[in-house]
Amino acid sequence: MKNAMLLTFLSLIIITCSGGEVPQAVKSELHSAGLKLYVMPFHKTVMVSGKVTVTPRLYEFFTDGSKTNCNVYVTNAAFYLGDKLLGISAVKPIMLKTDLIYVKNGVYPFRIVTAASDGKVYDYVTNITVSNVSMTVKTILKEPIPEGMFMYVAGSASVLVKKGKETEWNATALKMKKLTDLEYEATFLAGLGETVFFEFTLGSWATKARDEKNELIHVSTIVKKDGHVFTVKIDNWGKTTGKTALEGYNIGFLGDGKNLTLTWTQKNEKPGAVYYAYAGEKFVSSSFSNTQYYSFDFPAKWGQELLIYIAGQKVTNKFTLPKKGIPFTFLKVGDIHCNATAPIPALMAKESNIAFVMDTGDLVMDGLKAADWNSYYSLNNPYLKKFLYQPAMGNHEYESPFYNWITGKPKWYSFTWENCYFICIDNNNNIETGSPQYIWVEKELKAAQKYKFKIVYFHIPPYSSKKHGDDEWTQKFLVPLFEKYGVHVVFCGHEHGYEVSYPLKGGKKSDKGIVYVTSAGGGQFLYELEGTPEWSRLAVKTFNYMKITVTGDKMVLNAIDDKGKVFDSFEIK
Ligand SMILES: [Fe+2]
Ligand SMILES: [Fe+2]
Repeated sequence: MKNAMLLTFLSLIIITCSGGEVPQAVKSELHSAGLKLYVMPFHKTVMVSGKVTVTPRLYEFFTDGSKTNCNVYVTNAAFYLGDKLLGISAVKPIMLKTDLIYVKNGVYPFRIVTAASDGKVYDYVTNITVSNVSMTVKTILKEPIPEGMFMYVAGSASVLVKKGKETEWNATALKMKKLTDLEYEATFLAGLGETVFFEFTLGSWATKARDEKNELIHVSTIVKKDGHVFTVKIDNWGKTTGKTALEGYNIGFLGDGKNLTLTWTQKNEKPGAVYYAYAGEKFVSSSFSNTQYYSFDFPAKWGQELLIYIAGQKVTNKFTLPKKGIPFTFLKVGDIHCNATAPIPALMAKESNIAFVMDTGDLVMDGLKAADWNSYYSLNNPYLKKFLYQPAMGNHEYESPFYNWITGKPKWYSFTWENCYFICIDNNNNIETGSPQYIWVEKELKAAQKYKFKIVYFHIPPYSSKKHGDDEWTQKFLVPLFEKYGVHVVFCGHEHGYEVSYPLKGGKKSDKGIVYVTSAGGGQFLYELEGTPEWSRLAVKTFNYMKITVTGDKMVLNAIDDKGKVFDSFEIK
């Protein structure tokens, strides 16, 4: 939840030097006779993305407090909070910039060890008292939230609230406690002089709490403030805006692929009809009334040419259904985000003999805006008119009705293709043990046992070295299921770029483990690489899509960049 945080307030300054007051300068006798070290107080706090930066300054040594008489100069300094090294500084004045986040209340020795130009090492210790502010936010809802969903306060408070061993608060969200059907609350700690921003969601950007004018919750929405207890009224979770103005269709399928589903979007709400025919056969019609979005099922005849005519249009669309059989090839893409400059969809449209396109979500930026779905069509129509489309829901279209209207897909589903069983999961949604989706996933994994390859895909990767990091929720609930039932490969998106793991079991390299592939370079800006953990075989900052060929006993996976060049190639057996 890095964008638009909505409620702000300034908490108390919570770090002081020992003694309770912030002195003008803290003096400490040094080991060396006659020398004094001056540490300036924390003179500044900076709020960046909810992180708190403190900047203590350490000046040079003075013999008597007067700079003109100084005879020893500090050449560098290491700063510790308790045992933790916060940073090393070698600039003058010696200065520390660090994020004092995730620090619980308490008194911590703040230690500075310096090397000086006289060749000696000086050790200075003072105490820092951390006294966080406890905040409670309460929400009053107009209607109960849908069954099985949770409510979160998301925001920037940087100090963890621990409950047992579980870390409940992180930069993404804190699950709120249900008091009644219409009342929820959450308590957390705010950090050093911290401006706290927060908003309320059902778990994604697409379901942010809104007021009665459909505006995102902002400070004026606070209906009651009692010390550090804030009460907010929530009217709704986001209504769709606008009408899709671009026309398009996609064809996909569920289950064993006996039937195809054509999902048609038209400009206005009006009656109409869709006709289809396989080459050499008569057209069959299906009519609809007063709608913008229409879906209908019809039998699949693999390898044949399909003609589609939509009333009111002047063209008959031709769509060649892929042939069944082994080997077969499918494409994988993610995070196109309806980005008009994205090169990847056009490259994909040039491919041929493709069974289907798997998309791991973030099809748009704001799933509730019809305008974004217009961009989706203008970008993706070339390959949607050529290949079958099997998307998963990203956090940007999570809970948006447009997703189902336009793709025709439910939140989770499965399908088979020859020797492969594919399971599409929505891990924006509840995946905890006993949840409807968890029960469904286990049932599907059991059904998949008869198939050579068990392939799972969804939006948020359980393992990631990039911006959002590992998704502990998915690691905790889904990964054990995948391991128990012998999943071969997990495809994800969300972390813009490309990353692939070694085969993993319990997060560790294992010959018989699962390969986790994040291919999220469909067009939206790319995230920086942030180090390579042991489990990560390769992370690349590049636009990409993948081409995967399945034979009787192996899967060959190629990752292709925006120049059309294969930059990673590997096999799964
Ligand atoms: Fe994304
Ligand atoms: Fe995402």
